[in-house]
Amino acid sequence: MKIKPYIPNDTSLAYSVGVTLDRFIKKKQDDFPFASGELSQLLRDIALAAKIVNRETNRAGLANIGGAFGHTNVQGEEQQKLDVIANIRFTRALTKGGEVCAIVSEEDDEVIDLQNSSGKYVVAIDPLDGSSNIDVNISIGTIFSIYRRVTPVGSPIQLEDIMQPGNQQVAAGYVLYGSSTMLVYTTGCGVNGFTYEQSLGEFFLSHPDMKAPLSGNIYSINEGVSNTFSQGLSDYITYCKSKNYSARYIGSLVADFHRNLLKGGIYIYPETKKNPKGKLRLLYEANALAFIAEQAGADATDGIQRILDIQPTSLHQRTPLYIGSKSMVDEALSFISKKSSVQENH
Ligand code: AHG
Ligand code: MN
Ligand code: MN
Repeated sequence: MKIKPYIPNDTSLAYSVGVTLDRFIKKKQDDFPFASGELSQLLRDIALAAKIVNRETNRAGLANIGGAFGHTNVQGEEQQKLDVIANIRFTRALTKGGEVCAIVSEEDDEVIDLQNSSGKYVVAIDPLDGSSNIDVNISIGTIFSIYRRVTPVGSPIQLEDIMQPGNQQVAAGYVLYGSSTMLVYTTGCGVNGFTYEQSLGEFFLSHPDMKAPLSGNIYSINEGVSNTFSQGLSDYITYCKSKNYSARYIGSLVADFHRNLLKGGIYIYPETKKNPKGKLRLLYEANALAFIAEQAGADATDGIQRILDIQPTSLHQRTPLYIGSKSMVDEALSFISKKSSVQENH
């Protein structure tokens, strides 16, 4: 019997499909000899739910799952059917694996205690971000944060397990259901992006070690409410225009953030008269994206302090958010710190 060594095939005939998310997660786990594999399983559970939500999103115009659900959530916002569906899908996926003890979701008023005190992790999630864009076929997303509980495994969960600042996240990520579907995540060792290959049903590594440009020329803000911006912020927007920056605002945070991460830019959701503390939620929107931003060399602040250092005081608390390329965030801060009060001339 002859044995011949394997020589890789000609890639011009059959291109390599690359590294699957599963394999990547496994490889990363092997880098930590004492890792138990639970976080890896948790990430896989999230990826599975993301595939299901991707399927639902893609047929939203066909199946009767578009439009309002007929209920408002604790934020006073009208829930869309897909908000509710995504919440069920992710909650179910996180329940099945056994790694999670509690979930904080935008769509649930209270903390969901999974009655699984042996679970090590707490997850905060925005199951469907940008849901006002569902019915008009524009990119939407999912955002998640993962924390290790601080009270002993085996004991009932406590508030301190939930109310952790963003700097305690062990992993965070987002899924973008866009022109292609991507999952981007970090465990604190850089950021990696995976693109979903629909026909194979797998996420493949497409954006290894993502780094945000230090600067850029995109600013993303809802200028429709600019009459209540602080003077400093108005001055910054005038400055962006004087530099001929491009205004780009999708109205889905994940999509706006992702574009700016790749191209260089700043996303701002400031305090306004209608939303004096900003609109975005600290626990399941700002923290995850701030962690990813920092890991990619970008920045995130509420205008005064680093997002990741904010000590949460309530579950659905909101925060102003200035996030994106480092030098643009610095520049914005230099304007807003000069004149910061929200204008009353609405
Ligand atoms: P969600 O759909 O999860 O409630 O989030 C909507 C958020 C965010 O995605 C987006 O950037 C922002 O709301 C848009 O708000 P405005 O319409 O006030 O600009
Ligand atoms: Mn959201
Ligand atoms: Mn949402």
